[in-house]
Amino acid sequence: MYYNEKLDKIINEIAEVAGYLWEKGWAERNGGNITVNVTDEVDDALRSKKPITEPIAIGEVLPHIKGMFFFCKGTNKRMRDLARRPLDNGSIIRICDDCAHYEIIAENPVKPTSELPAHLSMHNQMIESGNGYKAAIHTHPIDLVAMSHNPHFLEKDVLSKLLWSMIPETRAFCPKGIGIANYELPGSLTLAKSTINQLKEYDVVMWEKHGVCAVGPDILEAFDQIDVLSKAAQIYLTAKSMGFVPTGMSEGQLQELKDAFNL
Ligand code: 13P
Ligand code: ZN
Repeated sequence: MYYNEKLDKIINEIAEVAGYLWEKGWAERNGGNITVNVTDEVDDALRSKKPITEPIAIGEVLPHIKGMFFFCKGTNKRMRDLARRPLDNGSIIRICDDCAHYEIIAENPVKPTSELPAHLSMHNQMIESGNGYKAAIHTHPIDLVAMSHNPHFLEKDVLSKLLWSMIPETRAFCPKGIGIANYELPGSLTLAKSTINQLKEYDVVMWEKHGVCAVGPDILEAFDQIDVLSKAAQIYLTAKSMGFVPTGMSEGQLQELKDAFNL
């Protein structure tokens, strides 16, 4: 037991996904980050805890997450360690009433991920849109990052259409496809801005030559979206390594899926 039953369930899900990221080879060293909005799970005991830090600037003003609580992977912390000891490798933060600073609430002085501007901007937008999403993930899948080194795949919706055509599941379970954010400095506000720009249209965003971000109702569903895209990329790469360009499902077959499953 870490906190209370509901919050522990979420922390256990985060640890579960952190383990998958490591096993998949997507999380070298401290690569990748996870944040989950846990405001609904925070009880009075946690709410009344004194912060262990002075307010720290986020770098932007995010009005929709005022007073909210987030569990965040710590910066420089490893996913494989987050999987085994989530509380030593992550912390709970609270957004201050000015919507421009946060405080660390957890026992451990674990500084949140360097991608906090992007993560909090995504949460801010999810609250604003009212989609009920609570989780955001960023990771470094080898296959998808490799594809982002080809300028053709960075053109609007080229990669979505290619990956959808590899296997029906990708069309069904990543129905919005993948948006593209051109290369920006990791951890920067410009990366945060271009990410939320893409998020208006997509649930998954490629960070050119860096990684992928995804959002979802919970961390398992956010992970699943990247997993189905990576599976499709693997099928494409496997066919190419066998010496042929895969045919891909036809436009008609993709349309049939869209109609059949109301995508
Ligand atoms: P953090 O260790 O600060 O979370 O950074 C990892 C990363 O992937 C940056 O893009
Ligand atoms: Zn990264």
